[in-house]
Amino acid sequence: MTESSPLISVLILHGPNLNLLGQREPGIYGRASLADIDHTLEQEAKSLRVKVSCLQSNHEGVLVDAIHAALGQHEGVLINAGAYTHTSIALHDAIAAVNLPTVEVHLSNIYKREAFRHHSFIAPVAIGQISGFGIDSYRLGLNALVNYLREP
Ligand code: DQA
Repeated sequence: MTESSPLISVLILHGPNLNLLGQREPGIYGRASLADIDHTLEQEAKSLRVKVSCLQSNHEGVLVDAIHAALGQHEGVLINAGAYTHTSIALHDAIAAVNLPTVEVHLSNIYKREAFRHHSFIAPVAIGQISGFGIDSYRLGLNALVNYLREP
């Protein structure tokens, strides 16, 4: 990367109920709030010299719209789709439609939990998935996505 390289921009999407992080089932999701996660990602982005834009929504259509709007605005998507991971063909189709490199992350290890969390509709359209490392899942996911965008 040179000083004149265009700045990579990454859209970070958080799905339903993640606005309650910090107070929501802390034994599973930890004590960090969503603001703490976004702050950590902004710091990480600074050291990686990329730009991040963070959005949380409890509404599937808002997340679909944000993925569509990412075209031409962002080079990649980092997504924790929350429970929509396990239900949303619409999010699967939106990611496939825009064809932007996407990394799926989860705070908890979804494969260690209830069987209904073992299937992801996002995984087949993601370049990879990181699950089970708490806030580090996001940090690792951002690093992996940026490395991929720099050297696909
Ligand atoms: C989650 C795991 C999902 O199964 C759950 O519905 C969430 C959070 C995680 O980050 O561990 O809301 O995506």
